[in-house]
Amino acid sequence: GQQIHFHESLPSTNVTAFQLAAEGAEHGEVVITEQQTAGKGRRGRVWTSPPGVNLYFSAILRPELPPQRASELTLVAAVALAETLREQDADARIKWPNDVQIDGRKVAGILTELSADPDQVHFVVLGVGVNLNSGPEDFPPELAETATSLSRVLGRRVNRALFTSSLWGRLEEWMDLHHEVGFEPVRQRWVELSSTLGQEVRVRTDRAELRGVAEDIDAAGALLVRTPEGRLERVLAGDVEQVR
Ligand code: BTN
Repeated sequence: GQQIHFHESLPSTNVTAFQLAAEGAEHGEVVITEQQTAGKGRRGRVWTSPPGVNLYFSAILRPELPPQRASELTLVAAVALAETLREQDADARIKWPNDVQIDGRKVAGILTELSADPDQVHFVVLGVGVNLNSGPEDFPPELAETATSLSRVLGRRVNRALFTSSLWGRLEEWMDLHHEVGFEPVRQRWVELSSTLGQEVRVRTDRAELRGVAEDIDAAGALLVRTPEGRLERVLAGDVEQVR
């Protein structure tokens, strides 16, 4: 059966889901909580997770994929998230690789963590946080300009249960399509929903900083950036700043 593990409070649903998966939890089991006391963002950042207003969950996945294709699942989730937000009449777009934004401000984030051998994925933990009903007072001041919530954008409260079931339905549909057909339909939908492609960007990776025009994502989900010198650089992980 596909279990849902509900908690009032957790340090991080990703951490709990990772432990459960390591103990043998099945594909499709989900950990969800009302608040996180140590919510994790990408690149070692904190994910602000106030109680009672937002959505924080992690799904355990056991995909039949080689480890180098696991990042495709993050783009699958970004597509499902953007579509669910758009269904609520919000103009949600995806900023590469997986920030979901409305009016250029972040409303949702995805953090995937995996356990794998060089040739085989054991499991993937897909963590999703969505700012549904949080107000500016729920965020540290430094996020005031860069983060928002769906209710702030829509000017009305958002029903968390309905949003969650709609999102899980879409996630399952896109995961099934990805499993049956492959990454290409996901890539096409991602491109339609993206705010990054065609933009002049600055990309910060672990090693370097790069400037150019974001032209495309390739079959593996990597960002292709055309530098001013005309080179095409392939970026697999990093932070993107849209320059204009
Ligand atoms: C990002 O930096 O954009 C990723 C944010 C991911 C946040 C979610 S909330 C549920 C899950 N548990 C965590 O600790 N992080 C993810």
